[in-house]
This record gives sequence, structure tokens and C-alpha cells, in this order.
Amino acid sequence: MSDLVAVIDFGSQTTQLLARRIREIGVYSIIIPYDSWQDIYKYDTKAVVLSGGPSSIYDKDSPTIPVEKIELPILGICYGMQLIVHQLGGKIISDDQEYGPAHLKLIADSVFLKGTDGSTVWMSHKDRVEAIPEGFKTVGITNSIKYAAVENNRKKIYGIQFHPEVTHTELGKQILKNFVIDIAGASADWDIKRFISEKISSLNRSIGGKKVLVAVSGGVDSTVTALLLKRAGADVVPVFINNGLLRYNEEKVVLGQLEKLGLSVVYEDASELFLSKLKGVQNPEKKRKIIGHTFIDIFTKIAKRQSGIEYLAQGTLYPDVIESSVVGKNSSLIKSHHNVGGLPEKLGFKLVEPLRELFKDEVRELGRNLGIAEEYIQRQPFPGPGLAIRIIGEITRQRLDILKKADKILIDEIKKNGFYNKVWQSFAVLLPLRSVGVMGDHRTYDYTICIRIVDSTDGMTADWVYLPEAVLRKISTEIINKTEGINRVVYDVSTKPPSTIEWE
Ligand code: XMP
Repeated sequence: MSDLVAVIDFGSQTTQLLARRIREIGVYSIIIPYDSWQDIYKYDTKAVVLSGGPSSIYDKDSPTIPVEKIELPILGICYGMQLIVHQLGGKIISDDQEYGPAHLKLIADSVFLKGTDGSTVWMSHKDRVEAIPEGFKTVGITNSIKYAAVENNRKKIYGIQFHPEVTHTELGKQILKNFVIDIAGASADWDIKRFISEKISSLNRSIGGKKVLVAVSGGVDSTVTALLLKRAGADVVPVFINNGLLRYNEEKVVLGQLEKLGLSVVYEDASELFLSKLKGVQNPEKKRKIIGHTFIDIFTKIAKRQSGIEYLAQGTLYPDVIESSVVGKNSSLIKSHHNVGGLPEKLGFKLVEPLRELFKDEVRELGRNLGIAEEYIQRQPFPGPGLAIRIIGEITRQRLDILKKADKILIDEIKKNGFYNKVWQSFAVLLPLRSVGVMGDHRTYDYTICIRIVDSTDGMTADWVYLPEAVLRKISTEIINKTEGINRVVYDVSTKPPSTIEWE
């Protein structure tokens, strides 16, 4: 078993980044919600990192854990640091908010911060430390903060007010490495190759020779799931359900690609069923739930047609797991991802999710290791509920046809101009909002297409992409000229947060 670093989640938007950064330095890391903190003892945990969070330690019901009970090296970040200081006898005050870059100045020798003097760090906080507990010393300050980094070396407890996990903190990874490897003594021996060999052995022990139904969508995640299970000796039955919410011609492209990979697919065209169930439904969460449940119903039927299916496999990723459970406990549910949230309580088969510990870029790396072609690996993510969450309000065949055409035009142009592999996602959204236009001598009163192109590393945060004017102009002209029913194109310039990537 690999050494492990547990990130205790207090609801920060960047908790997942923390776990990813730690994995990037070669130490396996998982996220544990603060109220399950005792789970750290289920693993070979070498160190504990307390995440930031939106609360103030003085809030009623603010999330907490008994810091003094944890006899492992601890690093607290932002809220995590304030919790440590508060519990061990120091003082926290509410102050002016600070958001943005600052310069870290070391004022004492410190293994924890070695090599980081003078570097830029990223602040995002309201409360701050005013007095440190006994046994602690200050090792780093900034122009505005006199307790930017504190430590108690004897007890191996450390705290920083800034965020080492975000890329704006220049040497954040160095700080995490100093803590995880030099202080906590974890071995940096985790990587995707090790994950693959351990996963294949463990899957082989649990489901080798067993019949597993795999929901394949043509996306990287489900394809990797199917191939990994096949490698592990499972009797894989890949099922591709056409829910009628796929992109232009997608079912044909996907079937061809899966066949090339040696996966002989059971194909089910269920578009009529999905569209009839979605008829008249406007609420985004309802759409997601209906789609999730319909998926499972169809799988169950297919399973019954096949004999001896014991497992259902899904390409659920770590962010899906976390967004649906961990953070959900602590902050409000933003969107239910159908592959987790929509599952009925009593599933007819056992569930296997071999990628549920992995982030997207790790799955891509895994795919490369399994021999999947680069072009396929680089496919942009496409959500399970498909175009249903890219048509605002009710879904009709006419709206789907319009969106498919516009989206195809957009994607073709994005590929032609070399942006497809440079951005996280590029897609069209249909806004059933009509506006007046003029075409030739005719007045039109048609729908709007919104273009959404974002950059992201994991879908958790995202920024909109600045496209050259000529490309935007071409996309807009092509869409309006060639898509009947559209007379206006707009560009989405919203970041996540506060927006989300998909519109519903
Ligand atoms: P949001 O809209 O939450 O999307 O900012 C973040 C990333 O997740 C994808 N997404 C989904 N993927 N099932 C999926 O498999 C879903 O229900 C789902 N909803 C959103 C989205 O495309 C983006 O990459």
C-alpha cells in the first residue's frame, strides 16, 4: 500500500487541487470530509492537510475537528490554519478581506518553507491570525500579514494563511513537498503506472472472469474503464445507449472508435424513450434525475437480456464523487452528476467504478498507458446528460436539431483553427430566447446560440477563452447563415465560479 496524505475538507473550492498537487509530487492523496476525519486511520496516513473553507471559526456550527487528537504531522491552510491556532490557544480576528498576490518573506530558518523566500503567494481570506499558541513560532510574513506561516516543529504542526495549491502561488508545490516528504517522511512512489498495476491486480481478484456491464459513452472515462476491466480479466459487455442527446452524428463516430479499440459494443437506441420522458420538463435538476434513472432502467433491461451480469461499471471520476458527497455535506449541492447522484438506492447489480480515485488528467495518462490513441484521449469532456443541459428549458426535437447543427459548426471551426486541444471545452448552448433579426428582406424572430469556450484543468474552476476576432466572426456568421432557427450568436464571458461550465 502506498503512503497516503489525507486532505481534510472544510469546504474550500480548491480542496481537490490540494490533493492533486500532492499526487503530482508522487504521494497518493485523498480527500476526507471534516466530519469523517477519523477515516485517516483506515489508511497508511503519513500526514494530514487541513483545507481552507468559507467559514469563520467564530461562526455558529463552523466545521471543526479535534486537532490535538491527531498524532500525525499536520499542515493547516487558511481556515485550516485558523482552526489549529484557535484550538491550541492562539487568537483569530476578522479583518479586511485580502485577495490576491503577496510576497513571502522568511524570518526564521525553516525546513517547511525552505527555498521559498521572496516568492509570490496567493491570499484569499477574511479572518487572520492575531496571536499564535504557545510552542509555535512565526516563520513567514508578508507586507500585510505578520503570521503568514507558523510552525511548531516539535509537534510537527504547520500553518499557512495563503494557498499553496493554486498556481498563482509560485512555489506552492515546493512547500507541499517540504511538508509531505521532508517533514512527514512520505515516500514519493505513487504514479499512474503503479496505479494501473495495483488496480489491475485488485480488479482481477474481485471481478476477474465475472460479467460486467460497462456503460460506454465514447468519452475517455468510460472507454478507459472498459479497457482497464478487460485488462483485468473481466468479461466486459460494453453497452452504448443512444439517449438522443448526443452531438451531431456522434453515435456513428463513437461506435466506430470503440470497435477499433477491440470493444464489441451492445448498441441500444433509446432516444425516443429519453425524449418522451423529458417532454415538458424544464427544471435542470429534474432533467438530470430523469436521465440518470432512465439510464439505469435501460441497463437493467439489457442486463436481464444478457445472462449472468453481476456488475455495472461506470467511469465516475474523483471530482464527481467529491462534488456529489463530500462537499455536498458541507456546502449546498450545485448540480447532481447523473452518474452518481441519479443512481437508484437499490441497484440490481453491484457497482464498480475503477476510476473513482482519479482526476481527469490522470485518466488521460492512464488511457495513454493502455494504448488509446492520442486523438481519442484528447476528446473534450461531454456531460452524461448531454445536450439536455445545453438547451435551456424544454427539450424538443426541433431544438435538438438546431443545437446539433450549430454545435457541429462551432467544433469544426475550433478544430480548424487549432483551438480544440488547447481548451478544456468548446460547445454551443441553445437559449430559447427569441429576438428580432433580418434576413434578406425578411424579418426573423428566432432563437439564440451561446458559445461557451473555457479553459480548465479539472472542470472545478474555469476561465473563458479569448478567441481571435476573425475566428469568432467566422463562427457567428457560419452558425447564423447555416442554422435555420438561429438569428443571433452571443459569447459567454463568465468564469467558474461564480458561473458553472454547463448552463444547467
Ligand atoms: P459544471 O457545469 O458543473 O461542469 O461546471 C463541470 C464539468 O463537468 C461536466 N459535467 C458533467 N459530466 N455528468 C458528467 O459526466 C454530468 O452530469 C455533468 N455535468 C457537468 C461539464 O461538462 C464540465 O466539464
